[in-house]
Amino acid sequence: LWFLLGRRRRRQGEPPLENGFLPYLGCALQFGANPLEFLREKQKKYGHIFTCRVAGKYIHFLTDPFSYHALIRQGKHLDWKKFHFATSAKAFGHGSIDPAEGNTTENFHQTFIRTLQGNALDALIEAMMENLQYVMLQSRTSKLQSNTWVTEGLYTFCCQVMFESGFLTLFGKEFNSNNDKNISSKQETERAHILNALENFKEFDKIFPALVAGLPIHLFKSAHSAREKLGEALLHKNLVKRDNLSELVTLRMFLNDTLSTFDDMEKAKTHVALLWASQANTIPATFWSLFYLLKSPEAMRAATKEVQSILESAGEKVSLDGKHISLNRKQLDNMPVLDSIIKEAMRLSSASMTFRVAKEDFTLHLENDFYNIRSDDIVALYPQLLHFDPEIYADPLTFKYDRFLNENGEEKTDFYRNGRKLKYYYMPFGTGIAKCPGRLFAVHEIKQFLALIFSYFEIELVDNNVQCPSLDQSRAGLGILQPANDIDFRYRLKCL
Ligand code: HEM
Repeated sequence: LWFLLGRRRRRQGEPPLENGFLPYLGCALQFGANPLEFLREKQKKYGHIFTCRVAGKYIHFLTDPFSYHALIRQGKHLDWKKFHFATSAKAFGHGSIDPAEGNTTENFHQTFIRTLQGNALDALIEAMMENLQYVMLQSRTSKLQSNTWVTEGLYTFCCQVMFESGFLTLFGKEFNSNNDKNISSKQETERAHILNALENFKEFDKIFPALVAGLPIHLFKSAHSAREKLGEALLHKNLVKRDNLSELVTLRMFLNDTLSTFDDMEKAKTHVALLWASQANTIPATFWSLFYLLKSPEAMRAATKEVQSILESAGEKVSLDGKHISLNRKQLDNMPVLDSIIKEAMRLSSASMTFRVAKEDFTLHLENDFYNIRSDDIVALYPQLLHFDPEIYADPLTFKYDRFLNENGEEKTDFYRNGRKLKYYYMPFGTGIAKCPGRLFAVHEIKQFLALIFSYFEIELVDNNVQCPSLDQSRAGLGILQPANDIDFRYRLKCL
């Protein structure tokens, strides 16, 4: 009977098992509705490790942060690639990117690290600084001409500004000759193309959780067509017509052309995957950082003061005469208040999940005990449990802008549980080998966005008493959660 119901029995030495009530789905619906509540409840019932059957898979959740390093230390029994590669192929529609399957010999993770970190990061930061100002000031001039307040949704604003600037930074600009008389109309056309790509991105992004859960894209007609249009825009024949492509995209195009057997559309879809990875979490993280700042005058004062002092020491003057501010990586790295604000905003909104698949039957050694794990089972971490743990973060649902600052105003790194210092206390970017390769760029671009907003604009919420929007749980497990509703704010250019 157990076999017919698709359920397993717990064997000796295995973690406590929760099969759930539903055939096949097991605990999937309860987990999907509110993962944090579900896991807290199971943790109370079973302790720090337990197994849940979710959509036919058996997931062992490790909930004790002192056991997190077990996943890294015993990495040889665990595979991080299979799940990621299969999910990417399914969601974006390219062929397998697993070198073992013969379509490509590219090591994607290495490519990402090489072109998103180290020296390559300096160039990305420089390009983003230019593009953010172009988008905030030139590209939106029609809205900003008169010195009156513009009212907009904060999420809509963050989405447009970050998408347009991020797109230009990675994928460059359409060729424009400088002596072209029609330069502004060309810029208008380019902007329309990018905003169109944003609409396609949003349409596709809406169903992303369903694709990860295994539903075929053909069930979603408009999202499918949006994904194909994004692919069209990123075909190599269109990318070569663009100027200032990032090193990341240039190298990926070269490797697609030399190391893979992908057809043109599949190559383009590997760029769609990159576009999605670069935007899907950054946009909501930018929203939450700015929203919490607008709600907290104390945080706003500290942030503005820090930005002003960095601009002064860099000898940068804010003006509207077309000369842009420039802050380099080193100057941006010297902003602990903004760092703390961004971290705190992400602590409150992140719901990423770390997955590893057991390559074989093995014994997982934790701090004080060990458990048998079966081949193909999943071992998972859900760091929101950590981020919302009142023992680690007092008053965990409250935004405290200086939570990640120590008494000297520098980065705070000592967080404790049961009187013991934690190694893992903040994990919106995942951990171990598959940790987000774009994390440094992500934090820099959010910082640049905030620094520029405070430099050029006066900005306020339409209703200062507005409630904090709740987290849209439909993306739980996939990264930074979006707000369930947008919030109105207004802004106008400062008189400089
Ligand atoms: C993967 C978070 C921004 C590029 C990931 C993962 C997480 C994550 C949780 C999966 C790690 C794992 O499986 O353990 C975030 C967050 C961001 C952000 C919270 C913003 C706040 C970016 C940006 C880029 C980027 C700006 C690129 C420009 C990637 C790529 C991967 C990835 C390429 C896949 C890596 C691989 O599988 O080799 N990110 N990310 N991310 N991220 Fe990010």
